[in-house]
Amino acid sequence: MLSRQLGAGALRNAVSAPSFRLKNPLAAPRAFAQVRNASSASSSSPLESFLNSRITLVSVSLFTAGSVAWYTHLYGSLPFISQVHASHASDEGLHPPAYPWSHGGPLDTFDHASIRRGYQVYREVCAACHSLDRIAWRNLVGVSHTTDEVKAMAEEIEYQDGPNDQGEMFMRPGKLADYMPPPYANEEAARAGNAGALPPDLSLIVKARHGGPDYIFALLTGYVDAPAGVEVREGMNYNPFFPGGAIGMARVLFDGLVEFEDGTPATTSQMAKDVVTFLHWSAEPELDERKKNGIKAVILFSALTLISLYVKRFKWTPLKNRKILYDPPVDKTH
Ligand code: HEC
Repeated sequence: MLSRQLGAGALRNAVSAPSFRLKNPLAAPRAFAQVRNASSASSSSPLESFLNSRITLVSVSLFTAGSVAWYTHLYGSLPFISQVHASHASDEGLHPPAYPWSHGGPLDTFDHASIRRGYQVYREVCAACHSLDRIAWRNLVGVSHTTDEVKAMAEEIEYQDGPNDQGEMFMRPGKLADYMPPPYANEEAARAGNAGALPPDLSLIVKARHGGPDYIFALLTGYVDAPAGVEVREGMNYNPFFPGGAIGMARVLFDGLVEFEDGTPATTSQMAKDVVTFLHWSAEPELDERKKNGIKAVILFSALTLISLYVKRFKWTPLKNRKILYDPPVDKTH
C-alpha cells in the first residue's frame, strides 16, 4: 500500500482518505484489515453501553419525574391526563390579543415617558384600591422622575416612625427610602371596602397573570355589557377577559380621567397602555438591563464559539491527518 505523508494543514486530504478506503474495501491489504478488526471487536458499541448503563436509567427516570413535577407545579394538572370540568371553556376567560408593546422585542427597552404617565395613572386611579408594596420612592428616581420630584412626592405622604425618646410613635413626611403607601391598613379593610373582593397588590401583577401585560390591558379596556343569558351578581361586573367573567373591580378608566402633563390625550386605551407599562416596569425593573446583558452575552459567546471551533480544528488537524499503517515484517527464512 502506498504510504502517504500528509501536510499538517491538509484537512481536505484527511477527509477524503477514509472514503477512499471505504469505497475499495477489497483493495486494502489483509494485514491492515485484521488490525482494524482486532482493535474494534473486543469492546461493545458506545451506544449499546450508554443504553444499558444504570446511570442512564436513573437519570432518565429522574428527568421524567422532574418534568411531570414541574408541569404539575406550573399548570396544576397532570400532563396527558384530561380532566372533567363542570364548566365551559369560555369560563376560563377570553384570551387577550397580543399587543405590540414598545418594550416587547428582544432589542426594545421601556418607554420611560410612558412609565411616568403610567405612574400618574396608578397614583390618581389605581392607588385608591391597590397597594404597590414592593416599590419604594427611590425606585422611581432616574426611571420616571428626578430625585427632587420624587422627594417632593414622598414628602406629601405621612409615614409612622419611631419610637422617639419618649417611646412614642410619631408621624413624619415620607423619604426616598419609604415604600409606596398602601390604601388599606390590612386585608380585611381592603375586602370590606370592595364588597368582599381583595384588590391584589400590583407590584408583580404583570408577572403573576397569564398573558402578562396583554391580559392587564385587555382587562382594563375590556368591560362590556354582559351578553344575553349571562347573569352577573349584584356588585360584580362583566369582563370577558377575567376568568369566570364576573370581576369585583368595576371599570375604572374613562376618557379624560387624568390630565397628562406632557399633553398626551388621556384616552382609556392610552391610560391603560401607560399604566400597564408602569406595572410591567414595577414587576421587571431589570428588563432594560437584562436585555442589554443578553445582547452582550450573545455577541460574546458566539464570538467565543467561533474561536473555539477554529482552535479545535487547528489543533486537531495534525492528528486527524495522521495515517497509521502496519507493515508486517517480511519473513525472510523462506
Ligand atoms: C375601586 C377600587 C379599585 C380601583 C380604583 C382599581 N381596582 Fe383593580 N381591582 C379591584 C378589586 C376589588 C379587584 C379584585 C377583583 C376580583 O377578584 O374579583 C381588582 C383586581 C384587579 C386586577 C387583578 C385581576 C385578576 O386577574 O385577578 C388587576 C390587574 C387590577 N385590578 C388592576 C387595576 C388597575 C391597573 C387599576 C388602575 C387603573 C385598578 N385596578 C383600579 C378594585 C379596584
